[in-house]
Amino acid sequence: MNNSQAYNQWAEQYDSNNNKTRDLEAIALRSVLAEREFEHILEIGCGTGKNSVWLKDRCTSLTGLDFSEEMLAKAKSKIPDAHVDFRWADIRQPWAVPDGHFDLVTFSLVLEHIEDIEFIFAEVRRVLRPGGTVYLGEFHPFKQYLGSKARFEMENGDVFVLECFNHHTSDFFAAAKKQGFRCADLQEWTDNDDEHGGIPRVLTMVFV
Ligand SMILES: C[S@@+](CC[C@H](N)C(=O)[O-])C[C@H]1O[C@@H](n2cnc3c(N)ncnc32)[C@H](O)[C@@H]1O
Repeated sequence: MNNSQAYNQWAEQYDSNNNKTRDLEAIALRSVLAEREFEHILEIGCGTGKNSVWLKDRCTSLTGLDFSEEMLAKAKSKIPDAHVDFRWADIRQPWAVPDGHFDLVTFSLVLEHIEDIEFIFAEVRRVLRPGGTVYLGEFHPFKQYLGSKARFEMENGDVFVLECFNHHTSDFFAAAKKQGFRCADLQEWTDNDDEHGGIPRVLTMVFV
């Protein structure tokens, strides 16, 4: 099963199962982007719309891309707003969106599934307006070093582990820097009830 098929299976329970990373990243995004308003937002790997429900009230248009039809179906049923457009796309291929259009591009828990992040940041550079902002909120590399990966329990009770790639914090920095971005903010987010000595769960970075 590839990642697209896996997310199609995961979609039914994605919003309801116990998932500390999903919940913490939602808090992080809302905190990092608080008080900001945007015109056109591009949300990469929008999934079931966990963050779209918040982002849509802070812009005049929101475009969400994802390669899981079932995750997208959940997002569409949750958010019927006319200014929101959810589209199927594999973001490892050139994105079918206009050049220089967006003033915010977001990534939430998606880049761990992408091997070539240099290609991703090149696409961000192409589609972002001059002066635009990039937000990423990713599973913290420290957790990855300990062997944690995105996983879910299938209907038959087996646990399926998705294909993931480890990116160091410096890899994100370097891929963004190569496109002329500057890191304007970096935060590490830890569970309130952390029982592992405070190892951060989520990394957020903002590039401008
Ligand atoms: C862990 S979910 C995160 C969803 C949402 N951003 C959130 O924070 O809840 C990862 C999402 O990335 C999508 N995804 C992974 N690889 C992708 C790819 N190559 N192209 C498009 N979407 C991808 C998956 O389908 C899934 O919806």
